[in-house]
Amino acid sequence: MTALRTPTVVTDREALARVRDRADRPVAVVMTMGALHDGHAALLRQARARAATVIATVFVNPLQFGPNEDFDRYPRTLEGDLEICAREEVDVVFAPTPAVMYPDGQPNTRVNPGPLGEILEGASRPGFFHGVLTVVLKLINLTRPDVVFFGEKDYQQVALVRQMVRDLDLDIEVVGVPTVREPDGLALSSRNRYLSDSERTTALALAAALRAGAAAPGGAAAVEEAARSVLEQADGLELDYGVVTAPDLGPAPASGPARLLLAAKVGTTRLIDNGPVTL
Ligand code: PAF
Repeated sequence: MTALRTPTVVTDREALARVRDRADRPVAVVMTMGALHDGHAALLRQARARAATVIATVFVNPLQFGPNEDFDRYPRTLEGDLEICAREEVDVVFAPTPAVMYPDGQPNTRVNPGPLGEILEGASRPGFFHGVLTVVLKLINLTRPDVVFFGEKDYQQVALVRQMVRDLDLDIEVVGVPTVREPDGLALSSRNRYLSDSERTTALALAAALRAGAAAPGGAAAVEEAARSVLEQADGLELDYGVVTAPDLGPAPASGPARLLLAAKVGTTRLIDNGPVTL
């Protein structure tokens, strides 16, 4: 399939299966919940550079939202999303409804992410990664990719997708793409649009905390302390976690490469960020 300027938009399984059957390989898939921004564009661009056919999925997955989370108000901006997909020369956009994805309602069978899904985001958002991995596996089965691209802003999500691919013998490659930031350091996120101007300024503390953590001499405790003290000084920010782990999210090593992961609430908006540190 040659790159199309206007992507083919499909909303049901049958139409997706037809375009997928005709697609040239390798097929790259970028899964999204829509509200696309430059971070998604970076994923789509890498996918375009690697694959003969690029499929983007746009689906706000009810399974990964808790009862008091933002499923109802999550931004749905399909028209703008399609413009970004056209610009990035996406071939196919799969934009199903919940009834298409879950014809029998909430599925009884879900992917269990195991212990790695119970820490960090999984501890704060019970059931979140069951919902994420279940829809990711369903979208893999429906789109049949050779390669999938995920943003490293959701670092734990990428780690869990890699784990699922290994554990369930899925024959696909997973590529992690570095976080895209605003010039002032704010990591791009679809949820940034919830922030007022003053909340946006407060949210810059996350990037500042990553810088402080990366600059702190010493071990994991010193890095966590440096990052948390930046966040604790930010007015209107409620720290959830500031934790150093190994790059694979195991316990932090005594020295060498590690990852600093942060989560905080600014107003009613929950934000996450992460970056590399050397201990
Ligand atoms: O990262 C996201 O936008 C979502 O968690 C994903 C991977 C599209 C699954 O709904």
